[in-house]
Amino acid sequence: MDIEELQRRLDELAQQAVTTLREAGEREEAIQIKNRYLGRSGSVQELMVVLRELPNEAKPVAGKAINQAKSQIEEAFSARLDELAEEQLQRQMREEAVDVTLPGRRQEVSLGHPLRQVERELIAIFDELGFDVAEGPEIESDYYNFEALNFPPDHPARDMQDTFGLVDGRLLRTHTSPVQVRTMEAYDVPIRIISPGRVYRCDSDLTHSPVFHQVEGLLIDEGVTMAHLKGTLTAFAQRCFGEGTKIRFRPSYFPFTEPSAEVDVQCIFCEGEGCRVCSDTGWLEILGAGMVDPNVFEMSDIDPERYTGFAFGMGVERIAMLKQQINDIRRFYENDRRFLAQF
Ligand code: DAH
Repeated sequence: MDIEELQRRLDELAQQAVTTLREAGEREEAIQIKNRYLGRSGSVQELMVVLRELPNEAKPVAGKAINQAKSQIEEAFSARLDELAEEQLQRQMREEAVDVTLPGRRQEVSLGHPLRQVERELIAIFDELGFDVAEGPEIESDYYNFEALNFPPDHPARDMQDTFGLVDGRLLRTHTSPVQVRTMEAYDVPIRIISPGRVYRCDSDLTHSPVFHQVEGLLIDEGVTMAHLKGTLTAFAQRCFGEGTKIRFRPSYFPFTEPSAEVDVQCIFCEGEGCRVCSDTGWLEILGAGMVDPNVFEMSDIDPERYTGFAFGMGVERIAMLKQQINDIRRFYENDRRFLAQF
């Protein structure tokens, strides 16, 4: 092989090496390619044998040519490694990138269900007025739900409440009033309690739900009069619906109170002017109340000659719907987060 031939071979090899290196897909591959040309038995290395056979004066030129080819390949090699490292970095940045413009995952903080919020508010108001909280079971006996509250067995007042009966003769309480009886049995007079809880009636429309909530109130002591009832409910209404809220009593009937009254608050929307919500009456009915019937005291072994008391009962949904301007009771039970998030 003469010097020209050697030069041509070297150019060819270098060219080949550079091209294949450029296409090397990864670092390992690039190393293998480089070794194929520059390694101990690589194609460029093999040409060193030729160098020995050349005439002396050609050797420096040939040596230089070989070195040039080598460094051309070395350069292509390290350039490719740089490229591969850069590609790797880019890929990694793409794959592991965090899009800081995405909205964060919000931690939603709830103040509680709108019904629960109102229930809590009612409890807080009566707490301030000195009432303790008493609770009773939702599955009741006929005795606590009706009989001990002065509903005789075939009294028509029982029809006022569509009762869910259980096969064992018990029932789902239709009001929180049975807690009055349980409290009178369990505690000594004086008594001053409210009783919030779930109640059940076979009834369903825009303003009635088969499950709903009531807050019952009971106060018993010596010398309690209707004036105390009025004072207590006025204080309640003003805390619940705003200062200056007026209330009025309308005569009514409940078996467990005598006299009984239905209590209205002045319409909180039109302030008594008359509007759609109050059907132009200027008043909204919010609760039932009255003086505890002596028969009820007698059945629970409280001396009606010595003690008197008042009781009241209100629907939590009704008050929540008024305060929060909700016109369909079913909203409370659908668990639609768009609705719940408004409170
Ligand atoms: N228990 C009655 C009802 O569910 C409400 C009620 C009225 C409760 C008058 C009372 C009361 O304590 O005195 O309709």
